[in-house]
Amino acid sequence: MSKVCIVFDRLRTEEKMLHKEASELGHDAVLLDAKITQINTDSNREDYDFGDVVLERCVSYFRGLHFTSSLEFLNVPVLNKFEVANICGNKMFMTLLLKKNNIPTPKTYFSFSSDSAAENLEKVGFPLVIKPVIGSWGRGVMPLKDKDTMEAVFEIRDITDSPHDRIYYLQELIKRPPRDIRVITVGDEPIAAMYRKSSGGFKTNVALGAEPEICEITKEMEDLAVKSSKAMGGGILGIDMMEDEDKGLIVHEVNNTVEFKGLAKVAQRNIPKEMIEFAINHVRK
Ligand SMILES: Nc1ncnc2c1ncn2[C@@H]1O[C@H](COP(=O)(O)OP(=O)(O)O)[C@@H](O)[C@H]1O
Ligand SMILES: [Mg+2]
Repeated sequence: MSKVCIVFDRLRTEEKMLHKEASELGHDAVLLDAKITQINTDSNREDYDFGDVVLERCVSYFRGLHFTSSLEFLNVPVLNKFEVANICGNKMFMTLLLKKNNIPTPKTYFSFSSDSAAENLEKVGFPLVIKPVIGSWGRGVMPLKDKDTMEAVFEIRDITDSPHDRIYYLQELIKRPPRDIRVITVGDEPIAAMYRKSSGGFKTNVALGAEPEICEITKEMEDLAVKSSKAMGGGILGIDMMEDEDKGLIVHEVNNTVEFKGLAKVAQRNIPKEMIEFAINHVRK
């Protein structure tokens, strides 16, 4: 018997499912709220109930990342590792690493001021998709189709001027059917996939109402998912792909804390069970 700890900040169905599966597999399972946990430089692993392995599942990426750094400080095995979370949580770092590993990904332009981004856009031409480097659920992702929209968006960024507003991540608009593909990998192995069909808009996030539909994992999807997972450093990941009319399958995103409640209803394999088993084997090795 092992002890698994699920760290959360908002208890979603996913965390409850993980807790239930761990108990049903005969392990000791604890749910731990990151928001009420305190740590200091003299803390020891024994002061806490982290067990043998932690699944870090905070909704807030930034909170989860910092929590992970304290777990690694205490030598508690945690999934995903800090390095993996850090890279996947930032679209610029993630995109660069995908490209460096020869994984097909949309052409993306980076600039570090609004003037420079505007200059690049004039050069490349509209449309391009702008994304905040940190964010999820499609928030702040928008197609820039003309100069007026661009100027409006850049102006707001200059007014807000938060650290992230100064990083311009602009991407070619992929011609694709109104859906994308989410593949869940556990230890570099794809275990389930779904199509996410847009409910009408440009974005296909389930959080925005996209319809999930089971997707058979083709050899090509499998290869891309395995390569992407390995490139990020492994763990439990959500690999997002688009079907480009010209270039075929391309990976546009790797997610660090993957949501799976919709997919779990239709997937053949038991997603939370696979995650728990992987976490436990990960520390037994
Ligand atoms: N380059 C692109 N071309 C076409 N559609 C895109 C592009 N980038 C993102 N999208 C759409 O927007 C959605 C959200 O973008 P994504 O990069 O996955 O950000 P998030 O992390 O917020 O989910 C994607 O699921 C996809 O439907
Ligand atoms: Mg996404």
